[in-house]
Amino acid sequence: MDKKERFLQEVKVLSKSLSLFTIAFFGIGFFLMFLVLFPDTKLFDKSPNITTEEVVTESLEENSEIEIKDGIHTETGFIAANGLEAVINNCTNCHSAKLVTQNRMTREGWLTTIRWMQKTQNLWDLGDQESIILDYLAKNYAPENKGRRQNLTVEEWYELK
Ligand code: HEC
Repeated sequence: MDKKERFLQEVKVLSKSLSLFTIAFFGIGFFLMFLVLFPDTKLFDKSPNITTEEVVTESLEENSEIEIKDGIHTETGFIAANGLEAVINNCTNCHSAKLVTQNRMTREGWLTTIRWMQKTQNLWDLGDQESIILDYLAKNYAPENKGRRQNLTVEEWYELK
C-alpha cells in the first residue's frame, strides 16, 4: 500500500465516522427538540390512563352522596334544609363552611354580607340561587335574640406593633 492509498483509506474511515456522528447528532437533536416542543408527549408516561369521562362520573357520584346525620350535613356542618345544596355549591369554595355557620344574621344581614363579598371578594352573581340561599340562611342562621348584637368572640388577641 503506497502512501496515497493509505491516505485515501484514512479519509474514507474519517468521513464515514464523521457522517455517523452527524446522523447521531441530528437524530438526538431532533428527538430532544420534539420533547421540548411537545412536552406532554405520552412516550414515557406510565401513569394509568384516566379519561375525563371517568373523572366526571366519579365526582358526580361523590356529589350525589350528600351525607346527613342528625339533621346536619356531615361534611360541612350545615343544617340540612331546603337550599342546602345551593349553599354548599356557592358558599364553601373560598372559605370554610364554619365561617357561615358561626354567623347569625337577618335576611338583610346575609344579603349585605353577600353583596360585600361580591364587591370585594370576587363572589360571583348568584343568579336565581340567591333567593334560595337567602331563604336558607335567614331561616336556619337567624339571630337568636333579635335586637341585640351578638357577642364578639375573640379567639386570639394580637399585639399592635
Ligand atoms: C369568591 C369567594 C367567596 C365565596 C364563594 C363566598 N365567600 Fe364568604 N367570604 C369570602 C372572603 C374572602 C371572606 C373574608 C374571609 C376572612 O375574613 O377571613 C368572606 C367572609 C364571609 C363571612 C364573614 C363576614 C364577616 O363579616 O366576617 C360570611 C358570613 C360569609 N363569607 C358567608 C358566605 C356565604 C353565605 C357565601 C355563599 C353565598 C359565601 N360566603 C361565599 C369569600 C367568599
